[in-house]
Amino acid sequence: MPTVTYLDRRGEIETYFDRTAMDAWAKLTSNAPVSRIRRTVREGRDQMRSTLLSWLPADISGRRILDAGCGTGALATEAARRGAQVVAVDISPKLVELAARRSAEELKREAVDFRVGDMLDPALGRFDHVIAMDSLIHYKAGDIANAIELLAERTRASILFTFAPKTPALALMHAVGRAFPRANRAPAIEPVSDSALRRTLANEVGLKVWRPDRTARIANGFYTSQAMELSRA
Ligand SMILES: C[S@@+](CC[C@H](N)C(=O)[O-])C[C@H]1O[C@@H](n2cnc3c(N)ncnc32)[C@H](O)[C@@H]1O
Repeated sequence: MPTVTYLDRRGEIETYFDRTAMDAWAKLTSNAPVSRIRRTVREGRDQMRSTLLSWLPADISGRRILDAGCGTGALATEAARRGAQVVAVDISPKLVELAARRSAEELKREAVDFRVGDMLDPALGRFDHVIAMDSLIHYKAGDIANAIELLAERTRASILFTFAPKTPALALMHAVGRAFPRANRAPAIEPVSDSALRRTLANEVGLKVWRPDRTARIANGFYTSQAMELSRA
């Protein structure tokens, strides 16, 4: 069951991505020119997406993949191009609409099954692989672990997700973010320590048969995020 803190945060995230940040996010994830700072974020995110995709098996044709928190759909579209059966879900209806449009234009067909909703909804079905790129970074460590446990119930092989590693730079940005009035700021990114997250994951009953595998930190200018692979033992 999702916790109250998860649901509260999800509401803030939906408002943020569906309204406040919609245009900026659409631009960041396109080829349109952006500021130097945002360019570093775009490059970092491109590196992260390639890293996560490279952790999938070389041949993913026919594999069922969930893009959990798909945003504007770049990862889902690439996985579908490689032949996977992709379900892509996001809590923001406007982002899903944009993602579906972009994906169909790029692939010249509607190859991805886009849905509006919560990534933890069991009705999405069962998957070989689940990928949550930067879609859990706004949740507290306990809620991340709980979300991974719920996703694991319906995943056969691996879960690839990212979190915001606890670094001095991120801790500072976190503190600065807290100084803005609530209405004007993005939901805080929750920095998580790698070792604390591993301990929390190890304590989840539903993750006893899962083990942390590869990990990679991407730090490029204003983008820092850490990927972790969990595989079924
Ligand atoms: C930082 S964006 C990343 C989007 C995409 N994964 C990418 O890397 O381009 C985070 C996304 O996660 C979505 N999200 C957050 N919590 C979610 C939830 N519980 N269920 C579905 N989507 C969620 C947000 O709406 C947002 O689009």
